[in-house]
Amino acid sequence: MKYSEVGKPAQQVDTAGKENKMNVPNHVAIILDGNGRWAKAKGMPRSYGHVKGCANLETICDDMKALGVKYLTVYAFSTENWKRSKEEVDGLMKLFRNYLKKCIKISEKNKMCVRVIGDIHAFDSDIQESIQRLEEYSKDFTELHFQIALNYGGRDEITRGIRRLAQDVKDGKIAPEAISEELVEGYWDTAGLPDPDLLIRTSGEQRLSNFLPWQLAYTEFYFTPVAWPDFNREELVKAIEKYNERDRRYGGVKEE
Ligand code: FPP
Repeated sequence: MKYSEVGKPAQQVDTAGKENKMNVPNHVAIILDGNGRWAKAKGMPRSYGHVKGCANLETICDDMKALGVKYLTVYAFSTENWKRSKEEVDGLMKLFRNYLKKCIKISEKNKMCVRVIGDIHAFDSDIQESIQRLEEYSKDFTELHFQIALNYGGRDEITRGIRRLAQDVKDGKIAPEAISEELVEGYWDTAGLPDPDLLIRTSGEQRLSNFLPWQLAYTEFYFTPVAWPDFNREELVKAIEKYNERDRRYGGVKEE
């Protein structure tokens, strides 16, 4: 992908006809990438890209719901993102603070159950409280299940899960022979959620960056050069159309 393609605005097209014919994935996961490059390309600070990226999250939740997607999981802050400059991390924390409060209303509007995955203990106590308040407020909504990965890392999730499982084995609650894939999944942050059907990564990179390594085992991947702030409903429809072309065999063979 050419660097100049990053941040290219999405084309405006009427998607209504296509939308009606699509097999919509039950669970979409998105790596929200490219905020910084998008802003820089406009001569603006990286923080401007994050603000626009945050606003786009609200719009995409509306679009997901309208298209019939039931589960949406987004990667907003990884366990590795603390390595960024203090200025950028502080800016992101401010954004999370505001968004988590605002999200109460958004959850009400979309009848959307919100859950944060990741190790939230690393955040300031007011952020942790906002997360708990939001999760409690929205827990009975069922139209859209929206997971936000904050201080999330797949390896960290697995490590934390194994630690709790080992404790349960030690306490005699679980026999080692009873350990199965289904049981192990119950120790991940995503316990109880279906695996994603479609993973979208914006802004050109083609890697997972420690996002849901267990859960994405049979997921279809879609990479687009469009930066996250420009990723709109038309781009989402394009991704779902590509998903519709895939032949999901889960390691099996299709009957002729
Ligand atoms: C990746 O772009 C984006 C992030 C690390 C932060 C994502 C945050 C948001 C979309 C906004 C807030 C979200 C919530 C949940 C309130 P990048 O900075 O890595 O961009 P680059 O690859 O161009 O540098």
